[in-house]
This record gives sequence, C-alpha cells and structure tokens, in this order.
Amino acid sequence: MQDESQGVGDGIYRKAPLAVRPLSPVFGAEVIGATGIAGNPPWLAKVLNQLWFQHGILLFRDLDFDEAGEVAFSRMFGELEVHGRQDFNSKDNPQLLYVTNRRDLGLPADALSNDDLEWHTDQTYLPRPALGSLLFAIEVPASGGNTYWADTAAAYDRLPEATKQRIACLRAVHDHGKVTMTYGLKTDDFQRRRSTRIESHPIVRTHPITLRKSLYLAPTVVTHIEGLAEAESTALLEELTAAITNTDLVYEHRWRAGDAVLWDNARVVHRRDRFPAEQVRFMRRTTIRPPAEISIPF
Ligand code: OGA
Ligand code: MN
Repeated sequence: MQDESQGVGDGIYRKAPLAVRPLSPVFGAEVIGATGIAGNPPWLAKVLNQLWFQHGILLFRDLDFDEAGEVAFSRMFGELEVHGRQDFNSKDNPQLLYVTNRRDLGLPADALSNDDLEWHTDQTYLPRPALGSLLFAIEVPASGGNTYWADTAAAYDRLPEATKQRIACLRAVHDHGKVTMTYGLKTDDFQRRRSTRIESHPIVRTHPITLRKSLYLAPTVVTHIEGLAEAESTALLEELTAAITNTDLVYEHRWRAGDAVLWDNARVVHRRDRFPAEQVRFMRRTTIRPPAEISIPF
C-alpha cells in the first residue's frame, strides 16, 4: 500500500511526467515533458521558474510553437517586454523579436546577419535589464550558428578570495556605442539613442532570487572599469573575462529546429558562432521581466 499522506497515491506524479537532464556538469538543464501537460496548470509555471533559477539555462525540445504559442509559453516566466528595436519585431506579436538572416520578413537592411555575436548579456544598456530571454529555433543552418552560454556565478565562486575582495565594489561601464560599431546597427531611432547610452553596473551582481553572486560583464559592451587606470582596468577585464569564458563553464548548444532555450541574464553570458551566409537561420526571441518586486537588479 502506498501512503496517501506522502502524495504518492494522488496521481500527480503519474500525470506530470516532467524530467530534467543536465546539459553540463555545472549548469543548464533540459526539461522534458513541459509542453505535454494539458491546461497549463499553475504548478507548472512554479516548477519551471524554480528550475530556471536553479540551472541558469533551460532547454526545451521538439516544440512546434506558432507565434501565439511562444508568447503564451514565455508568459509563464513573467511580463514580456517589447524590444526597443521595433523594426526587428513581429508585426502581429510585437513581443517577439526576429533573430535571423532572412530578408523576406520586412526587416531593415542593417538587421542581424550571419556573423559571430560576441560574448554579452542582454539589455545592459538599461539601468534595469530584463532577467530572461527565450530563444526559439524555427530553422537552423546545416553548419555553424551554435550558441554558447557561460555560467558567471560559478566563475565568481572560483575566483581567489583576494580577487573577490578587490572587485567587490567596482563598477564596469557598458557603452552600447561599442556594439553598434561592431555590428553596424544604425538605421533606426532606438538604435541611435541606444548607441549613445552609457550605463555603469556593478561587476559583482547579486541575483534577485537566488542571492548568488555572479560576474556581470558583457565583453562586447564593457569599455572599462570605473576609477582604475586604463592598463589596470584592461588587465582586470581580461582576467575576469578569461575566468568566465576560457573554461569548462561554457555550454555549447547545437540547435535543432523546435528547440527553445530560456536563460537567466543575471547568471550567464552568451555568444553565437557565424554560419554560412547562404543558409537560413530563423529564430524568435522573447524578453522576460519577472514581477517588479523580485526584479531588483543588483
Ligand atoms: C539573442 C542572442 C544569439 C543567437 O537573441 O539575444 O544573443 O544564437 N542570440 O542567435
Ligand atoms: Mn543576446
């Protein structure tokens, strides 16, 4: 006889065949079964949100979302933000940002191409960046276009105590003009405003939910560390970037059509490989802001 007071006999476990599989020894998990559950019960969002913050990135496979389905799924993780680069967004569902080299969707001439995207974390040009990004693959190239995430909380944990003390109160300057220059993004008003935005953020970020510390650095955007001489700032940035990216703390994802990856911008940085220009890569992204009371950013 099973003991009903333990919750075993109530059928919940049989009706909810959710499982997780680690993506790397340190962080990231594939969640199996998340979209096979009828009716979107409230406990599902609770479990998935917990897994998201526990693992830093979550992979879901074999999805066949249309735009509305992707929006509804993303809503389990918070409010969706309409990306400021409005001419990259879906006309029907403006919360969806197209990340693609397709040119038959009415995207502007300077839309993203097939080039590398260097290490970054999303929205550091804002004083309060959104916590979540969810990227869904609709069409993937035969080769290239892999995305990499690195766990900056694990990187922080491994730093020597002296380095932790040295960086405890330092702030990095995130200058979005650097990105605009690198990728040649320039045609729209938002881009012009963004390219002149300079934000200073603490290097050591405390996660609003797990309270874990991480390194909040986006090498694509960060120009220097406040208050340090140039040579010292450059050397420290190189040391910290290497501590994050030149390690076993990087997970490489080879996309299959139907994959979606949700990541925590307070915990990971990400980058993408280039892919052949004549091949199509078609992704859609949502940007997710959990409720304000749990979104204290730093
Ligand atoms: C993003 C991003 C990387 C990729 O959507 O924020 O960085 O692999 N995408 O397309
Ligand atoms: Mn990004």
